[in-house]
Amino acid sequence: MAKVLLTKRIEFSSSHRYQNDAWDAARNRVVFGACNNEPGHGHNYLLEVTLAGEVDADTGMVVNLYDLKQVLKQVLEEFDHKHLNLDTPYFKGTIPTTENIAGVLWKILAARPEIGALENVRLFEDEDLFAEITAADVRAGGAGIARAGVTRQYYFSAAHRVHSGHLSAAENRRLYGKCDSASAHGHNYELSVRVRGEISPDTGMVTDIPTLDRLVQELVVRRFDHQDLNRDPDFSALVPTGENLTRLIWKRLAGSIPAARLDRIGLVETRGSSYAYTGETGEGALLNS
Ligand code: NI
Repeated sequence: MAKVLLTKRIEFSSSHRYQNDAWDAARNRVVFGACNNEPGHGHNYLLEVTLAGEVDADTGMVVNLYDLKQVLKQVLEEFDHKHLNLDTPYFKGTIPTTENIAGVLWKILAARPEIGALENVRLFEDEDLFAEITAADVRAGGAGIARAGVTRQYYFSAAHRVHSGHLSAAENRRLYGKCDSASAHGHNYELSVRVRGEISPDTGMVTDIPTLDRLVQELVVRRFDHQDLNRDPDFSALVPTGENLTRLIWKRLAGSIPAARLDRIGLVETRGSSYAYTGETGEGALLNS
């Protein structure tokens, strides 16, 4: 029988400090910035656990949600309102980055077979940043968890008129409706950029987030924010649909990601429409490469 995915979310709060003991104070400061401040700082983390399993014919469930919640609460007791570096045994030689915390939680949850098969562990540090470990990452990593995905959220607002130069006025009107209106209209776009790669043993990170932020700001946000997409040279021969914008953002960013590789571009155009692109070769090929 085909498997069903089930996701449960739970919050906890922890403090942490980024410090590589092999480096001197100056290098730690340069690499980790304020995250190196003593004694540390805190986050409200949101843990999202996805399990894969067959639906039990008698209960109609993959796993008993009540039992799952109890297991998650029990597991998080060790982390909630604790200093991850000082109060837990997991981060003595490992930096408690979002990637590494997600990896530790994967290992702890994988040792609890009563909750079923783990498919995905996502850990949100805040609304705009989460790390995830997938079953494919774990398979690729062999004995240890060496790979993770990191998703960062960005925002921009842009105007467009959805109109094709290849179609007649009547065809444009019929196909795009109000979106073809000559006066254009705008959206608050929500862009998610997911990168995937090896977790660096030195930094505990898959990619350098400030560099990624600068790159996305330069190549995407500043380019499109409060602009008319139809006037952008990139759209001179392209209809500025969500599909084309998503693919264009992929092309602008792919190849420039520090350390990691671009894995997925997600774009929410309205509450009713969103798009995603994983490149020419698709997600499967990326995950296997
Ligand atoms: Ni932090």
